[in-house]
Amino acid sequence: MKERLEALRGEALEALQQVNDPGALNELRIKYLGKKGGLTEILRGMGGLSAEERPVIGQVANDVRGAIESAIDALQERFQREETEARLRAETIDVTLPGKAPASGAVHPLNKVAQELEDVFVGMGYTIAEGPEVEEDFYNFEALNLPKNHPARDMQDSFYITDEILMRTHTSPVQVRTMKQMNGKPVKVICPGKVYRRDDDDATHSFQFNQIEGLVIDKNIRMSDLKGTLLQFVQQMFGQQAQIRLRPSFFPFTEPSAEVDVTCVQCQGHGCRMCKQTGWLEILGCGMVHPRVLEMGGYDPEEVSGFAFGMGVERIALLKYGIDDIRHFYTNDLRFLSQFARM
Ligand code: PHE
Repeated sequence: MKERLEALRGEALEALQQVNDPGALNELRIKYLGKKGGLTEILRGMGGLSAEERPVIGQVANDVRGAIESAIDALQERFQREETEARLRAETIDVTLPGKAPASGAVHPLNKVAQELEDVFVGMGYTIAEGPEVEEDFYNFEALNLPKNHPARDMQDSFYITDEILMRTHTSPVQVRTMKQMNGKPVKVICPGKVYRRDDDDATHSFQFNQIEGLVIDKNIRMSDLKGTLLQFVQQMFGQQAQIRLRPSFFPFTEPSAEVDVTCVQCQGHGCRMCKQTGWLEILGCGMVHPRVLEMGGYDPEEVSGFAFGMGVERIALLKYGIDDIRHFYTNDLRFLSQFARM
């Protein structure tokens, strides 16, 4: 019996040397150590042994089982290690390779500039007021001292929807609405929004563009307040070196009125093509609110005064970024837009 056991060990260990996959290993385990396997079969004969032989053979049988089991365990461990190694090899990544940055969107340059403009004025204590783009003639013109047939209406060619309703040509009607709402109380607002004019589109004109207008009404508001406000604004937007100059102008809703220039952003005032050698760039219109406009808004021009200013967001953006054609803002060419993503 001892010989049979040793033969079984020899056979099993030899067979195990040939094994090279977990499936075959399992088959051998069953073949030699299983309930119906070789070892069990031999041990069935134990009953016929004498009392002295039994422990001896039992010892041998245990040795044989132990030897086969540890051979199997060793193989099992090897297979597992090999599998892990293979998986690690397959899943290896080179962490030093440059990554793929996710494509992210960005704020449109016009919105960016509008937000900057708003921030500057909110920082000076202004609140933001908004109003309808489809507007009544009364708010867009009449209450701004532009009665029907007033020649200055030609300054802003309009899209009429009916005789009394039009697409607003500026954001000034929001100022009228604000005055009426405030009911005689002090006002300090900016009104951002889209406006519409019957212009042919070209490098500097668009039938639809964006404005931001400001209105301040209180006791003792003077032209010097307006000037200081605008200088402060221009320096925050274009840098501390920027200066302004006011040129007399005309708007029906302000008196006196002025057009404001800023030091050329390109040449800092020395004269270049952008400023047509003048050193200055026009950026906005402004003035002291006309007494009749105050009156129509519900204020007593003997008691209070105010200033107003209005500018085109596109124009500010063109100047700030040195862009030569307003149409770039509307055609959504990613080669143009993506330049502003990192600014
Ligand atoms: N509303 C004027 C325009 O659109 C701009 C402006 C606003 C001028 C306020 C003076 C005061 O041209």
